[in-house]
Amino acid sequence: MSVEAPVDAAVDVIIVGSGAAGLTATLALAQTRRVLVLAKGTLTGGSTAWAQGGIAAVLAEGDTFEDHIRDTMVAGAGLNRLETVEFVVGQAPHAIARLAALGVPFNMQDNVLHLTREGGHSHRRIVHVDDATGWAVQAALVKAAQAHPNITLLPGRACIDLITGRHELRYSGAGRVWGVYALDEATGRVEAYTARATILASGGAGRCYLFSTAPRGATGDGIAMAWRAGARVANMEMMQFHPTCLYNLEVKNLLITEAVRGEGGRLINPRTGVRFMAAYDDRLELAPRDVVARAIDAEIKRFGLDYVHLDISHMPADFVAGHFPNIHEKLLALGIDMTTGPIPVVPAQHYTCGGIVVDADARTDLPGLYAAGECAESGLHGANRLASNSLLECFVYGEAAAADILARWSTFDTPPPVRPWDESRVTEADEEVVIKQNWTEIRRFMWNYVGIVRSTKRLERAAHRIKLLFEEVEDFYGHFRVTTDLIELRNLLQCADLIVRSALDRRESRGLHYTLDYPATLIEARDTILVP
Ligand code: FAD
Ligand code: SIN
Repeated sequence: MSVEAPVDAAVDVIIVGSGAAGLTATLALAQTRRVLVLAKGTLTGGSTAWAQGGIAAVLAEGDTFEDHIRDTMVAGAGLNRLETVEFVVGQAPHAIARLAALGVPFNMQDNVLHLTREGGHSHRRIVHVDDATGWAVQAALVKAAQAHPNITLLPGRACIDLITGRHELRYSGAGRVWGVYALDEATGRVEAYTARATILASGGAGRCYLFSTAPRGATGDGIAMAWRAGARVANMEMMQFHPTCLYNLEVKNLLITEAVRGEGGRLINPRTGVRFMAAYDDRLELAPRDVVARAIDAEIKRFGLDYVHLDISHMPADFVAGHFPNIHEKLLALGIDMTTGPIPVVPAQHYTCGGIVVDADARTDLPGLYAAGECAESGLHGANRLASNSLLECFVYGEAAAADILARWSTFDTPPPVRPWDESRVTEADEEVVIKQNWTEIRRFMWNYVGIVRSTKRLERAAHRIKLLFEEVEDFYGHFRVTTDLIELRNLLQCADLIVRSALDRRESRGLHYTLDYPATLIEARDTILVP
C-alpha cells in the first residue's frame, strides 16, 4: 500500500477520483500498470459512499435482460443509446460477482442475493447492503486499492486543469492529454502530474443546486476541466431530482431511499391526507423519478406546502427498522420515528445524467483522456436515469476504460516535459467572501430558474447572471492563488453555464427536462451536444 508516498515520476495512468468508477478502473489497470489516484478531500468523499438503495442487476427468476433494457429506455424517454444500455445491463451480473469477490457483504435471503425494488423497475432487481450499499462498496474498493503495490492513492489533491499540448515545454502537436495540474490541499502547492493516459472519474455537478443530495465536492470539476480542454459534453440539461429528500431546516441533504417506496411507502398530502400519486400516474409511487418529483413539486405549489409526507408506518415496525436501519437511526436522532409516523420530504437535485461525451470504451474526444461514472455521458441514462443504474455504470465503464487502455498500451507515448504551474502573477485572495457569495448565488438561481419545471424566460435570466459572474470569477481566478473553494466555484459556474445552454437548446419536454414553453415531446430523440 502507498498512501501519501512520494509520487514516482514513472506513473502509467492517472485517475481523477476515488469513487466507484475511479477505483474500479484503478484495480483493473493495476494488474500490469502503475496507477496514481488523485482525490479531492478524503478517499471516501464522493457520492459513492453515500449511495443507499443499491445496484441494479438481472438476477431474479422471471426477470430478463430485455426487461431491464426496456425499463432503462422507458425511464430515459428514448434518449438512451441502445448499444450502451445493452452492454451495461448485460455486464451487471458480472459486476456484482466481482464486488462480492472483493468482499462486499450484500444482503442474502435463503442463500441467494436479496433483491429490493425501486421506481421504474418492472422486477425486484436491486442488490444491496441494507440501506447503505455505497458505503460498503466504497470501503471494499478502498481496501483492495490500499493493498495493491501498483497503486498510489493521493487524497487531498484538487485537480485544477488537464495538461494538454499547450502545456508542453516543447510543443509536439500530438494533441494528447498528459495528466493534470493539482492543488495539494494541505500545502497550497500546485504540482503537475503526468502519465500516458488519464481517466476522469470525478463525479457529478449536483452542487450547482441549492438543494442536493450530493456531497459538498460534487461541483462538476471533471466536466468543466474536459470542456476547457476541448472535449464535447452532452445532455447537461438532464439533471435528476430525487423525489424524497428529508425536509429539515438543519439537515438539508439526507436522502430517503427510493426503496422505502419500493417496499410500500406512500406519498401523502399532509394538508388533505390524500395519497396523491394516483392523480398523476398509474404506477403510483413507483413511477420513474421525474414523474414522482414533478408530482410532488406540483402538489407543494398547488397547496402552498413546505413538504409532503412519505409514510411506511403501515408496515410492521420490525420490517421497516430491519430494511432501513441507517435511515431509521438518523431520523430517530432528528425526532422522527418512521416506524410509527410519516417522514416530511421534498425533491432535491440528485444525479447529473449528462456529462463528457464518451464512446463504448470510455474514450473522450481528446486522445489519452477517458471518462467514467457520473461525469461521463455514455448514453446509458438518456433523459432520465433509472434508479440504481448509476453505480452499475461506474463498474462497467471503469472496467471498459481500463480494458481499452491496456489493449492500446503500445500506442501511448511517454509524456513529454511540461511547464510547471505559474503562480508568478497571483497573490493571496483578500476577500474570501466573494467566493462564498458567488457560490450561493449560483446555487440559488439554478434552483429557482433551472429546476424541476423550467421556462425560456427563467433560463434566460439564469444565462444573464452566469455571463456577469463569469467576468467576476475569471478576474478573481486570474489574480489570486487557487484554493479548493475557488477551483470549485469556477467549475460550478462552468457547469451551470453548460446546463443552461443545453436547456435553452432543447425545444421540447423530455424526461427530466420539462419546460412550460415547449411542453410536447418531439418525435425524434436527439442529444444536446455542446462543442467547445
Ligand atoms: P463519486 O463517487 O462521486 O466520486 C468522485 C471522486 O472524484 C471523489 O473521489 C472526489 O473526491 C473526486 N474529485 C472530484 N473532483 C475532483 C478534483 N477536482 N480533483 C480531484 N478529485 C476530484 N446510485 C446507484 O446506482 N444506487 C444508489 O443507491 C444510489 N444512491 C445514491 C444516494 C445518494 C445520496 C447520492 C448522492 C447518489 C446516489 N447514487 C446511487 C448515485 C451514485 O452514488 C453516483 O452516481 C456514483 O457513486 C458516482 O460515482 P463516481 O465514481 O462517478 O463519482
Ligand atoms: C435511492 O436509494 O433512492 C437512490 C438510488 C439511486 O439514486 O439510484
